[in-house]
Amino acid sequence: MSYPFQIKTKEAYEKAYQQSVSDPEGFWADVAEQFTWKQKWDKVLNWDFKDTFIEWFRGGKLNITENCLDRHLEDRGDTPAIIWEPNDPESRHRILTYKELHFKVMQFAHVLRNNGVKKGDRVCIYLGMVPELAIATLACARIGAIHSVIFGGFSAQSIADRLQDAHAAFIITADGAYRGNKDIPLKSTIDDALTTCPFVRKVIVLTRTHTPVSMIKGRDVWWEDEIKNVETMGNPYFEAEVMDAEDPLFILYTSGSTGKPKGVVHSCGGYMVYTTYSFVNVFQYTPGDVYFCTADIGWITGHSYIVYGPLAAGATTLIFEGIPTYPDAGRFWDIVDKHRVNILYTAPTAIRSLMSFGTDLIKQYKLDSLKVLGSVGEPINEEAWHWFDENIGKGKCPIVDTWWQTETGGIMISNLAGVTPSKPSYATLPLPGIQPVLVDENGNDAQPVTNDKGETIVSGNLCIRFPWPGILRTTYGDHERFKQAYFSTYENKYFTGDGSFRDTDGNYRITGRVDDVLNVSGHRIGTAEVENAINMHSGVIESAVVGYPHPIKGQGIYAFVVTENSHVHELNKDDILQTVSRLIGAIAKPDKIQLVSGLPKTRSGKIMRRILRKIAEGETGNIGDTSTLLDPAVVEDIIKNKL
Ligand code: PRX
Repeated sequence: MSYPFQIKTKEAYEKAYQQSVSDPEGFWADVAEQFTWKQKWDKVLNWDFKDTFIEWFRGGKLNITENCLDRHLEDRGDTPAIIWEPNDPESRHRILTYKELHFKVMQFAHVLRNNGVKKGDRVCIYLGMVPELAIATLACARIGAIHSVIFGGFSAQSIADRLQDAHAAFIITADGAYRGNKDIPLKSTIDDALTTCPFVRKVIVLTRTHTPVSMIKGRDVWWEDEIKNVETMGNPYFEAEVMDAEDPLFILYTSGSTGKPKGVVHSCGGYMVYTTYSFVNVFQYTPGDVYFCTADIGWITGHSYIVYGPLAAGATTLIFEGIPTYPDAGRFWDIVDKHRVNILYTAPTAIRSLMSFGTDLIKQYKLDSLKVLGSVGEPINEEAWHWFDENIGKGKCPIVDTWWQTETGGIMISNLAGVTPSKPSYATLPLPGIQPVLVDENGNDAQPVTNDKGETIVSGNLCIRFPWPGILRTTYGDHERFKQAYFSTYENKYFTGDGSFRDTDGNYRITGRVDDVLNVSGHRIGTAEVENAINMHSGVIESAVVGYPHPIKGQGIYAFVVTENSHVHELNKDDILQTVSRLIGAIAKPDKIQLVSGLPKTRSGKIMRRILRKIAEGETGNIGDTSTLLDPAVVEDIIKNKL
């Protein structure tokens, strides 16, 4: 397979970028021509950021699975599509060629149909990192059902919230999942979620851990039994459903600064074009390369850069079931050598955690197959960047620092491996088609300033002023929220929620969220969500949650909690953690809980988070103006007892 849209030189990047700005429709039409469409589009782009509608390739008909599977059968049917590395290195790994994956997706599409799933139905997928997770998502896409993959670490309550929001009547799960030395009881968590979701009609359960599970007659069926039924049908061919380019492909929930997580909706056509284009260009994928992205398919990185982008490009994508430190902190390097991985895409939090184990372990591995390294999820600090470069890339692998979001569908700002220069801790340049702007509080273009190193930079809030094919189309069931969250802060611009600098060469350095969203180990967590969970705990009156710098996680969660005086039992912090785990999931557990007598509030009752953030960051000598506080003594008290 060749990629006519692959950019191979800096000059070609500049040319493509210019063209993508001067003639976006022509530019993206040329890229889209490289895919299999059942019917060509009438119009490349319709959009209005004010009225908040965005349509790419309107009138085009396709099925993304024909692009991810069928079209590769002739030339690369026997090439590995998926290499699966199990949690336990002593267990057998699995390889699925494009032919085998195609076959299994069609089989499972039959299973879905046999169980009543139809085009447009929402199907929740709650699985560990097994090949069946990719098979299930692709089978949904084959039948035209909208998948909603939920990360295996979310609690029953979080699952129930998502099932209710999407009114998903079908679930695909497993008895359990292996992660390091833990067995995660997936089905039993689903059972707990379903006590408040009576509309769920079918639960398809894969066998993985042989954990005992309860199976409700008429509702719960085994994956393996259902496959057996399909086998008796004979020819498993499953005609791919004809989808409109703008039909939703999936929903993925992500945290915002207010309320419950929102269901980000991605489309079939634009998402496919954008993930494939960005995959091939950022990583400079060459046919035959083995590509390993360490993310979980439960997050956007896994959707776009384990499943859809790589498979649409005919790549070999490695799925790893376990964690980087099991059985020891050399696991990633072991996988790289074992499968001769060429491209490794991981997260700064994983790099920092592995750094803490030293380099002795790494010396046992060759790592000579590596050509390209990638980072995603949060700003990568220079120390981690250099460690990765020297110890893993051996100074010869370009590192791509890829900035993007669940909402953007694909990588937005990044160097292209070996093609455009890298700059440690900078995501660098926008991809063709991406038009970033930095704005001040009033939405005006931010102006250059001289920083303390004497460099001229522009600093502001990062917006994008023109649509790209991978942009989300709505938030599920609530278009108004979509409008509010992304298009109301600055007129005619998509607001990312991130702050950024830009140097005189046009390189962007993302500094992190400017809203009330935390980035903990690369996971997006809304402070409001954590506060709501803490406030549910008996004896808690109110709470305020802020982030603070954490050496491994990037940000840690610091909770200030006001409790009832009259509480008979002394309020136990571990119990509060248990409540957060139960309501959201272990990933949202605060790292620090400080019980306080009150929170700093303005006279109008607004919590002054700025002050709490300073305290959590340890900058207690630099609290700033407290004159508008209702009761300044509260602050002194909090500082005195700071953790
Ligand atoms: O703050 C940015 C940070 O992660 C946020 C998006 O999180 P999520 O939707 O969960 O998607 C993560 C994977 C794409 C962004 O708003 N972020 C992501 N990548 C980077 C980053 N910050 C700095 N540099 C990055 N490379």
